[in-house]
Amino acid sequence: MDIDSIEQVIRARRTIRTLSDQAISMEVIDELLTSSSYAPYHSKEEPWEVIIVKTTQDRQLFVEKIMASYDRLDTWARYDQQNLETAKKRTRDYFLDVPVTLIVTAPKHKSEKLNLEAIGAVSAFIQNFQLAAWSKQIGVTWRTIPVIFDEIFKEAVGVVADRQIIGLLDISAIDEKMKIPTSRRKPLEHWTAQLSDKLKK
Ligand SMILES: Cc1cc2nc3c(=O)[nH]c(=O)nc-3n(C[C@H](O)[C@H](O)[C@H](O)COP(=O)(O)O)c2cc1C
Repeated sequence: MDIDSIEQVIRARRTIRTLSDQAISMEVIDELLTSSSYAPYHSKEEPWEVIIVKTTQDRQLFVEKIMASYDRLDTWARYDQQNLETAKKRTRDYFLDVPVTLIVTAPKHKSEKLNLEAIGAVSAFIQNFQLAAWSKQIGVTWRTIPVIFDEIFKEAVGVVADRQIIGLLDISAIDEKMKIPTSRRKPLEHWTAQLSDKLKK
């Protein structure tokens, strides 16, 4: 196994919010999902489930449900009211243009431990997907927009009541002309400490 290249992919991956027209085949999505499923998990059953929005018909239904949820949650109240119609159109057009969206869910548990384990495992699954996609020149935006907490939206897109959405993944091929965003991380001294130092008053 080439450890260096794994580290390179981890460090190079960026959230890609620009969409391209390039088609992504179902074979590629299936391959990425299969790789993602090698994430660690700590439950009897593998906790991830994925609803795929790819066909034109599914996309139209999905966007209709997203827009209805934005209205229901009064998400637009936070937008500039003078340009509301433009903002609504931009949002709708964006979601209509995404080549593939994955709705990734985990079971919802009352037990804090089980819930943490489910969210942790499904987050690892999502990161596997992002890294595997990056290595195939495919970009991902992991979205946790308010609609994912809207029970009516969840039901409308086929997520059963005892599951929670961990992310909507917007997927689009990375075009060579696209500007890849830069992203810095704080040096580790900012977020690591020896236990003894941490306990010093
Ligand atoms: C749990 C989670 C939720 C996120 N939700 C959103 C979101 O709703 N919208 C968005 O544009 N990006 C979202 N992101 C992407 C982050 O903004 C992005 O990862 C961060 O800015 C660091 O950039 P990088 O992924 O390029 O390293 C989310 C990321 C994570 C891990």
